[in-house]
Amino acid sequence: MMMARKQDGRTPTYNVSVVGLSGTEKEKGQCGIGKSCLCNRFVRPSADDFHLDHTSVLSTSDFGGRVVNNDHFLYWGEVARPLEECVECRIHVVEQTEFIDDQTFQPHRSTALQPYIKRAAATKLASAEKLMYFCTDQLGLEQDFEQKQMPDGKLPVDGFLLCVDVSRGMNRNFDEQLKFVSNLYNQLAKTKKPVVVVLTKCDEGVERYIRDAHAFALGKKNLQVVETSARSNVNVELAFGTLVQLVDKSRGKAKIIPYFEALKQQSQQIAAAKDKYEWLVSRIVKSHHELWPNVSRKMQPAPEFQDYVYLEGTLKAKKLFLQHVQRLKQEHIERRRKAYLALLPQALDALVPDLDEIDRLSRSKAEKLLEAKPDFSKWFVVLEETPWDAGDRVDEVDSERIPFDLLETPAAEQLYEAHLEKLRNERKRAEMRRAFRENLESSPFVTPGKPWEEARSFIMNEDFYQWLEEPVYMDIYGKHQKQLIDKAKEDFQELLLEYSELFYELELDAKPSKEKMGVIQEVLGEEQRFKALHKLQAERDALVLKHIHFVYHPTKETCPSCSSCVDARVEQLLSTRFLRPHRNPLGDANVDRINLVILGKDGLARELANEIRALCTNDDKYVVEGKMYELALRPIEGNVRLPVNAFQTPTFQPHGCLCLYNSKESLSYVVESIEKSREVEGRLEGSVWGDGQGQGGVRMVECPSGHPRGQGSSHWSVVGQT
Ligand code: GTP
Ligand code: MG
Repeated sequence: MMMARKQDGRTPTYNVSVVGLSGTEKEKGQCGIGKSCLCNRFVRPSADDFHLDHTSVLSTSDFGGRVVNNDHFLYWGEVARPLEECVECRIHVVEQTEFIDDQTFQPHRSTALQPYIKRAAATKLASAEKLMYFCTDQLGLEQDFEQKQMPDGKLPVDGFLLCVDVSRGMNRNFDEQLKFVSNLYNQLAKTKKPVVVVLTKCDEGVERYIRDAHAFALGKKNLQVVETSARSNVNVELAFGTLVQLVDKSRGKAKIIPYFEALKQQSQQIAAAKDKYEWLVSRIVKSHHELWPNVSRKMQPAPEFQDYVYLEGTLKAKKLFLQHVQRLKQEHIERRRKAYLALLPQALDALVPDLDEIDRLSRSKAEKLLEAKPDFSKWFVVLEETPWDAGDRVDEVDSERIPFDLLETPAAEQLYEAHLEKLRNERKRAEMRRAFRENLESSPFVTPGKPWEEARSFIMNEDFYQWLEEPVYMDIYGKHQKQLIDKAKEDFQELLLEYSELFYELELDAKPSKEKMGVIQEVLGEEQRFKALHKLQAERDALVLKHIHFVYHPTKETCPSCSSCVDARVEQLLSTRFLRPHRNPLGDANVDRINLVILGKDGLARELANEIRALCTNDDKYVVEGKMYELALRPIEGNVRLPVNAFQTPTFQPHGCLCLYNSKESLSYVVESIEKSREVEGRLEGSVWGDGQGQGGVRMVECPSGHPRGQGSSHWSVVGQT
């Protein structure tokens, strides 16, 4: 019957019998020709449901179980396939085989044991309550699998797939197989049912066998050949589809595609599915801590996952996932490594900044030295198990500190060498800076005010010139110039003081005339200290004018002694060291009283007292910063042991003493007087003047003899203090 059987009135159903060489090892060689695998791939095509191993060597009990059911054929079940007009057809699949007893290695005895060729051509199969076969593991464990029966225990066969193994096959002669196939075909032909020749295992196909198989089919009328591989899932659908088309002539003709073309399509499909799946994995899995059960559950609904698992299986999907995770982990390690390596130079700078300490150390000694440093554990961690990046340890390693064993990696060794090199470089540069400075100091060419551009040519050829950058040279040169200029100006100032007579006869308040300036320049021009500033003439002229200005208006602001100016020093000392005067109990409540001893031989004391009094109001009051002081002065010039020259009297308690001298002799007088008065003091109670700390408030003041005096003002220089 060549018509589709209408089981429920609508769905066409076809029953296909898969046949081919089978039997004992002697007949079929060490393995079968691929009937079971072909059925498996067609009925349950997903990779996870496909098994390569479907042994036909069974125990008696498995042979008697409900799946084999003491038959020499397997019922592979039923599948639905779409037809052109959106209608489904159903295809039942049986495999004709020969089960071998695992004890005797002879075919199992069955009720109607005919030779395979006869039996395989059967078009009416019956086996009451025979169960659908899945895989070898199912035998004996039928209850663990879906239990589906062969419909009504009967199956009328509509067509045959005649399998020919074109692989090398172990211990099997191809020509023998082809002879067997030829005999079997003759038997099948008698049934008048359509037959399609299926070349199996084309993925390992031998060209000659394929040619011979085709030649065999060409010799028959209307015998089509489909090249398949169950393992690579190529053309399996096509084999069944071609037969179904022959069974039901109303269906369109299936186009036969050669193996390699079909394989190409299949490979492209797998590659595309793999790309999509990998994209899905990389989108979902961001951490190397992710685990497969969790991730696969998450991916389950995604078509990218389903398609790939269908084509390649869960194991391969998991493998790709693991590869991805491994990649993430590797990236994570790499990031860590980079961070550690970035930290290493800082650690070395902190722990071993001194070249002398490490310059000639071996690697192992350098490591020991590092470990001995007090701050070692701030920067490094010594792991019990190394290397740090092996196994799962990388997650335990703290991210702040560098695993010490990293130091033994080439990258770290390079950094260590770079550290050494840097220190050596720094040392060299420091040496070069020093050499440059020394060179400047000893060079007769480098004179005050000489610009760098001019000076540079003198050092261009020197060894150190290549070591430092231009700005460094310029900086050092700039500093050196400043020192040179300061020193030259100081010397020039000294020169001006030495030539004070040059400035005596200037008109008051007037600018020096051109002639006068000319004279000054002429006189000073002979001097080296004058010439030294020849590149800085403007500054030199300014110094001269400033000096003239000072001579006629000496103030502490214009004094060349600057902060050593005695006026400034006296003010400073008085404000910090002078006892705050007691409030005068008798006098005005708002007036403080200052009792001051002025010690100085040869009229010095009296002279200063008079000058101070001249600055006072009529009633001996002195105003400082708006505050009025009652000033009592006690000038002393004679022997201080005499009561008349005592520092202190019942009515005069000194707050301090100004000591004046203008010669060695007058200085001796001051010193002796202070010593004498201290002896007297010792006998008195407490300190009569001073800052209350036992430090006398004695101030030594020199009255310079050659010092030009301006009008109405005095200028004094402090030369020392006790
Ligand atoms: P019996 O039923 O015992 O006669 O054997 P069979 O024809 O069912 O052969 P089966 O499908 O069990 O295949 C036997 C062996 O051939 C399998 O275990 C596989 O190792 C191998 N095999 C089956 N199909 C393919 C295929 O498409 N390619 C390759 N390379 N090997 C295959
Ligand atoms: Mg088999």
